[in-house]
Parts: sequence; structure tokens; C-alpha cells
Amino acid sequence: MQKFFNIEKTSEGKARAGELTTDHGKIQTPIFMPVGTVASVKTVHQRELKEDIKAQIILGNTYHLYLRPGMETMQEAGGLHKFMNWDLPILTDSGGFQVFSLASSRKMSEEGARFKSHIDGSYHMFSPEKSMEIQRQIGADIFMAFDECVAYPCEYNQAKTSMELTHRWLKRCIEWTENNPELYGYKQRLFPIVQGSTFSDLRKISAEVIAEAGAEGNAIGGLSVGEPEEEMYRITDEVTDILPKEKPRYLMGVGTPWNILESIGLGIDMMDCVMPTRNARNAMLFTWKGVMNMKNEKWKKDFSPLDEFGTSYVDREYSKAYVRHLFVSKEYLAKQIASVHNLAFYLDLVKVAREHILAGDFYEWKNSVVPVLRQRL
Ligand code: GUN
Repeated sequence: MQKFFNIEKTSEGKARAGELTTDHGKIQTPIFMPVGTVASVKTVHQRELKEDIKAQIILGNTYHLYLRPGMETMQEAGGLHKFMNWDLPILTDSGGFQVFSLASSRKMSEEGARFKSHIDGSYHMFSPEKSMEIQRQIGADIFMAFDECVAYPCEYNQAKTSMELTHRWLKRCIEWTENNPELYGYKQRLFPIVQGSTFSDLRKISAEVIAEAGAEGNAIGGLSVGEPEEEMYRITDEVTDILPKEKPRYLMGVGTPWNILESIGLGIDMMDCVMPTRNARNAMLFTWKGVMNMKNEKWKKDFSPLDEFGTSYVDREYSKAYVRHLFVSKEYLAKQIASVHNLAFYLDLVKVAREHILAGDFYEWKNSVVPVLRQRL
């Protein structure tokens, strides 16, 4: 049987190029995973995702899909791949993080999280077992352990208590998963999540506990929640020193294009973030030359292509002036074009990073492009 994760090349530092093999296809790493929270990557067609953006895996969310359309519909559809007509790999988040950030009220206990739906105010309970059950019903290729993510800043004792709860919940996730097989005939892999806020000793303990669990891949959570960038890099560096080298490492909810490159440099293989789509809807475009605000007056009569270095059809077929006009006129098409552009750019960014890892000059390249990516155009 094919190994789940195969590392093709490790660079002079911690960056590596590899390949994940799932029952829905292969994923070249490092990879960025577009977020499709409610069975839709906002404003983007599945065909565009596959053919123009070249997404290799997308994300879905337990919290949202459980509330709507609900698991009866999901199971009758035969799982999320069939429901949304996406036959490449999918990863689902476990719901804990969304309860923490979205539910209009929540109460955490040893048992799990009781929360009030942000949609209709109804009350629900997520336990580790319930999260696992829902993720079986959704049927993602990779699914996440049920964890608690604390806010930043966080008192040491609270971070410690929460991390220990996450570790106890992980045991329950593993036990439930071992006793309850997949529903749709293909393999699902559970990734546990390292927590511990910005405290090095807690992160070390958590990374050791997570590594010890022996899962096929591991994730780092609780970052990009408001801490300074340098703190995020420091913790990521410390944790990737402990997590097993031969398994994929997923940094959750990160980030800007420069965060992506720095994280790859620290040994991260997988990342996701709403930023390329959310910021696109607010007229912010990421490019190889820097960040553009498409509402800016300066693009008013700039009829040059949207992005001369862009890989997507929208970059060649539409001008900056046209896209600015669409944003100023509040046209839906503006959001669609910008989302396709940003996602195609993120996928191009990780593809080029991979090429540099394989060529052996990743760090030199990264250090030269990061200041350019951060520029405001
Ligand atoms: N997405 C971003 N950060 C986190 C986290 O800490 N936990 C989970 N489950 N999802 C996340």
C-alpha cells in the first residue's frame, strides 16, 4: 500500500517538499488549502477551483455543516464530496474552534462544548465523540481532533488547563474513531492538534503528547489568534522541532502570503486560511509584487491586465480599471474575480516554494520575496 506521506526533499533548513496520498488523490506539499466552510469556497465554482486555481484539497467545517444542511442531508447525499461535487481530497475542522469564535454563547465542560447556534439560536452540544461522529458523516479524507483554542493573550493557568482538556479529549476522539469505522468506503485520517498558547513549556508538553498519539499527521492550533507574528513563528519553530519529521504538519488558520512562506521555512506542510477569499471580497488582492487595494483611485484608468504575473484566467482577461469599477459599483463579479485571483496566487505561491525546496535554494528565495510580498502597491 502507498505510504500516506512521502518526503521528496528536505532543504538545508526545515522546509520540505512531499506528497500526500489519499483515496481522493494526491496532494503535493507544501500546500495551501482553500476554505469551503459551508460546502462552498465563497463565490468560487468547484470547476474554477480545480481547473483555474488548481486547488488540491479544500476545507469544510463541522460546526457549519452540522447546523446546515445537517447530517441527515449529508448522509443521504453520500457525504460532502458527493454533496458538493468535489472529488479531490477534503479536510474538515472539528468544530471546537468555530464554537469558540462563532457561537453566540458557549459553555465548556469536561464533557464538551454546549453552544447556541449563530443561525437560529438553538442549543447544541459538541463532545469529542459527537465531533468524530459528524466528521464520519461528512466523510473528509482528513479530519481534526476536537480541541479547545484559547484567546490571545491568555493567562498561563488557563492555557495549561485548556491544553490538558484538549489532551483528554484527544484520547476520547481516538477511542471513538477506533470503534466506529468509515461510512463511505474510503479511508479517513485523524490529525490531533497541539495547543498551549504562546508558552514554550506548554507547547513542548503538548507537542510531545500529540507526537506520542502516533497519528498519521499532526496539526498546530491556537496560533494566528492575535499574537505578534514573531511569537507565532517562535512557537511554530519550537513545535516542529518536536513533532515527528516523517509525518505531515498542518498549521491551522495561517495566514498572509509571507506567513505562509515563513511557516514553510519552519517545517510546515499544510496551511489554510480564509484570508485570500475574505480579503478578496474586501477588494484586497495579493500578488507577487505586493498587496493591492482594488478600490484605490490609482487603478481608475489602468487598463493593464489585473496581474501580469498571475496564473489565473482572470489575471489576463480583466484589467485593473475594470475590476476597480466592479468593486466601486458593488458588483458581485468583483468578489468572484478577486477570490479566483487570490486563491490562484496562494496556490502558485506554494507551488513555487516547492520548486525552490526541490532546487535547494528555498531560504535564499524566501528572504528575497517576503519584503516584496508585504509591499502596498
Ligand atoms: N483553526 C485555526 N486555529 C484552530 C485551532 O486552534 N483549532 C481548530 N480546531 N481549528 C483551528
